[in-house]
Amino acid sequence: MKVLGIETSCDETGVALISDRDGLLAHRLYSQTDLHAVYGGVVPELASRDHVRRLLPLVRAVLDEGGVHGRELDAIAYTGGPGLLGALLTGAAVARSLAWGWEIPALPVHHLEGHLLAPMLEGEFEFPFLVLLVSGGHTQLIHARALGDYELLGESIDDAAGEAFDKTAKLLGLGYPGGPALARLATDGRAGALELPRPMLDRPGLDMSFSGLKTAVLTAVRKGGHAPADVARAFEAAVSETLVEKTRRALKQSHAPALVVAGGVAANATLRAGLERMARERGVPVHFPRAEFCTDNGAMIALAGLRRLQAGCASRAVDADGGPVIQARARWPLAELAG
Ligand code: KG4
Ligand code: ZN
Repeated sequence: MKVLGIETSCDETGVALISDRDGLLAHRLYSQTDLHAVYGGVVPELASRDHVRRLLPLVRAVLDEGGVHGRELDAIAYTGGPGLLGALLTGAAVARSLAWGWEIPALPVHHLEGHLLAPMLEGEFEFPFLVLLVSGGHTQLIHARALGDYELLGESIDDAAGEAFDKTAKLLGLGYPGGPALARLATDGRAGALELPRPMLDRPGLDMSFSGLKTAVLTAVRKGGHAPADVARAFEAAVSETLVEKTRRALKQSHAPALVVAGGVAANATLRAGLERMARERGVPVHFPRAEFCTDNGAMIALAGLRRLQAGCASRAVDADGGPVIQARARWPLAELAG
């Protein structure tokens, strides 16, 4: 079985080809970072237009590298949501049109299901497990019982962890996207030079909050007297410790036998080390995606599509006039997948 995966939910154009027998056969990623950097954040209209430019050449390159013709595919999976609507629609239009032309099924994939399955690209493991999903748009603790059966246990009530990294990096005058730049700067910082709050750790429950931390950083920066590297280190420590502690509580509450960490912030070395230590203490195995598959990519969408196809979820939806149905959802709660 071979599935092509297409990711266009934000500012990365990702295309990949996966096989149930041989794993990942080819993958390509085009990042629009340079396009948006001058604006300090993603400009949705520019993102859509660039996906239009990049998609078909990437599809051709991936199929050529995999030695597969479109008609030999078993399905095309694409990110159906959540994300920027215009960007999602470019991927949906290309995926549905190619699938229609090649007479194969097309599968809308939930972007977050893609993220949480990404560690399986490194090797198989079984459900159930707890997921800490930490990206630019989401910070959630999810009990994943089976494919499509996801219970939200807690989430950030304001900024996502990645968003907090990006906004704090901006305060420190670092470029966009700020997460990796802030993490690099933090390696030069001194531990304990500045203490920042650990938001919501004093409260029960699994919800989190990161917007106050950004304000605490702003206050410290305005007051002056702190080296930017020390501020970066203090911020990274506060976010990591908060995430590690909430994850520890979620493991205890859910009795999940394994931990999966996914999303762009899963690439953060301090967070990884903290989670690994905590999981070791609890005797729970922890699975991370490889660094390049933490952030948005086509491989995770191809894998999620393959799993859904194996579970019998493909759709060949056509409009009343016989043309392909092109739809996407900007908002799409993960819990709705069970329905
Ligand atoms: O999952 P992702 O690619 O996009 C979303 O679906 O949101 O995550 C991107 C986020 C950005 O906020 C970026 O700054 C953050 O992940 N990020 C990091 C690191 N690498 C990426 N944050 C902290 N440390 C990193 N090493
Ligand atoms: Zn993402």
